[in-house]
Amino acid sequence: EIHPSAKEGSKAVAQEIATLIREKQAAKQNCVLGMATGSTPKYLYAELVRLHKEEGLSFKNVVTFNLDEYYPIEPDALQSYNRFMKEQLFNHIDIPEGNYHIPDGTVPKEKIKQYCEDYEKRIEAAGGMDLQILGIGNNGHIGFNEPGANINSHTRLVTLDNSTRLANAYEFPNMSQVPRLAITMGISSIFKAKSVILMAWGSHKAKIVRRSVEGHSTDQVPASLLQQHPNCKFVIDEQASQEL
Ligand code: GLP
Repeated sequence: EIHPSAKEGSKAVAQEIATLIREKQAAKQNCVLGMATGSTPKYLYAELVRLHKEEGLSFKNVVTFNLDEYYPIEPDALQSYNRFMKEQLFNHIDIPEGNYHIPDGTVPKEKIKQYCEDYEKRIEAAGGMDLQILGIGNNGHIGFNEPGANINSHTRLVTLDNSTRLANAYEFPNMSQVPRLAITMGISSIFKAKSVILMAWGSHKAKIVRRSVEGHSTDQVPASLLQQHPNCKFVIDEQASQEL
């Protein structure tokens, strides 16, 4: 789905989410959403906040699971995805505390395996994700599933590619402070979502969007594995579509 701009694309995705939330409200069910971070979903979250404040969209029946978090990191660190989600979305809507889940970057290393297994179980207990929102890294990563991530991978501790650390270095005082590790949902965790929307904006994403959509499906480009998902779409702006 190609929109003239990131703002328009984000508004369209926000409308889809609002419709899903309202359908679930009418059926007296929870709406389970998978959330992404990075610069890509910022307009989407701003639009969801606007829909809440100006159009009365309630998030009381919404349960969310975030894709990933740096490791180790304190939840209130400037670069933490926990902090990002609160600042961009959760602090501004009526989602009950306890309904949102973000991987914890402070879990002791020896407890991470169990923590990740429990994270998967919490998603299952919530009924699985109705919709997973994704961005895309320049190397095709989704969440922090870097090239080579197995299609059967679950939530786990991963090592970040140097290219990812470089791409995200702008968030940190210097490169040496960019964490080398992260907790991320796996490809199989993402695949269990009933529907997936990957968003990409800007000409710097055009190449990897083409590779993911038109190239063969390979774990060397994690986003290209989404070709195998039964209900996935890419929502992009004109700039990100210029190589298609
Ligand atoms: C980050 C996140 C991903 C995100 C991607 C793209 O490292 N872990 O979830 O989709 O990289 O980031 P951006 O949206 O800033 O381009």
